[in-house]
Amino acid sequence: MKSTITATAKYLPKRILSNFDLEKMVDTNDEWIRTRTGIETRHLVEEGQASADMATKVAKILLERSNTSKDEIDVIIIATVTPDTMFPSTAARVQHNLDAQNCWGFDLSGACTGFVYALETGAKFVESSKYKKVMVIGVDTMSSIIDYTDRNTCILFGDGAGGVLLEPSTQNNGIVDSILGIDGAGGDALIMPGGGSIDPASNETLEKKMHYVRQDGKTVFKYAVKGMADISSKILKRNGFTGDDVKLFIPHQANKRIIDATAKRCGIPDERVLINIDKYGNTTAATIPIGMDEAVTDGIIKDGDLVLTSTFGAGFTWGSVLIRWGK
Ligand SMILES: CC(C)(COP(=O)(O)OP(=O)(O)OC[C@H]1O[C@@H](n2cnc3c(N)ncnc32)[C@H](O)[C@@H]1OP(=O)(O)O)[C@@H](O)C(=O)NCCC(=O)NCCS
Repeated sequence: MKSTITATAKYLPKRILSNFDLEKMVDTNDEWIRTRTGIETRHLVEEGQASADMATKVAKILLERSNTSKDEIDVIIIATVTPDTMFPSTAARVQHNLDAQNCWGFDLSGACTGFVYALETGAKFVESSKYKKVMVIGVDTMSSIIDYTDRNTCILFGDGAGGVLLEPSTQNNGIVDSILGIDGAGGDALIMPGGGSIDPASNETLEKKMHYVRQDGKTVFKYAVKGMADISSKILKRNGFTGDDVKLFIPHQANKRIIDATAKRCGIPDERVLINIDKYGNTTAATIPIGMDEAVTDGIIKDGDLVLTSTFGAGFTWGSVLIRWGK
């Protein structure tokens, strides 16, 4: 039995931070950011708004669009590296906000690969036949861990949430195949070093700004280009497809140059690649489900279409999922 996506949803907070705003904050400029990354604006949360708030908005839209009652939900999986608190989980907060009475749930930490890991996990739950309705939400409040005096990172990230409802397929559509990986050797290239058990919060960790994202952009870029292109072409090949068969490629949105290189390697033309990095920047676990929802609401993907997603992120982690869209 296959597991399939029966509803999609997204939420982007209203506040917008443009490249021109960033010009006033750090030594950067709109032209550099646009040409090196493809980003023009990002959405940021209001004060007091956090990951569970955004995830709850997504969860409510998923219930409404799928005509599902809150008490029918079996599992809530939240992919995030910016939980409201280390514990309780963001999933517990979302459950409480929904008042969903018959589920369990957990947070999953896979950074920019978080949603793809969560999609794989949720799909296996559904395929086990034990669970019928699994909510998978990717959400990140990156502004809570970004140093807005560091031009290497603050230009890249935004806040947002996106999610899907997974259910058993009735027409043999859904998740066709997946490739997932992890390699901790790349750990130091993209990390938030402070606040965990190795360096618990202290005056020293605060002074050293260890609660912010640190990134060796060049190294991440190099591995991301190769990693995303390798898995995307491998998953197509091993399922007997070429880039021509892909109706839409929905890649993680970290840098437009990484996306372009991956699409080129797979032979997928530009018009069949979903790009929204210009509007939202890198929303970490939320980029792919936000992209899925845009594609569905804009009528770009329809039942029967082959959809490819792939991503690369901190860890390093990576993943690609091939989907035959439809119920
Ligand atoms: C971060 C990133 C955009 C930097 O782009 P890059 O082309 O590698 O740029 P470099 O770091 O080589 O810097 C080039 C020049 O621009 C400068 N520069 C760096 N950041 C800048 C900024 N925000 N504004 C203006 N200039 C900047 C550098 O100082 C350097 O100047 P120099 O040549 O005089 O030394 C790119 O490396 C990247 O996207 N990496 C991957 C990020 C990513 O995907 N992260 C998430 C993974 S999920």
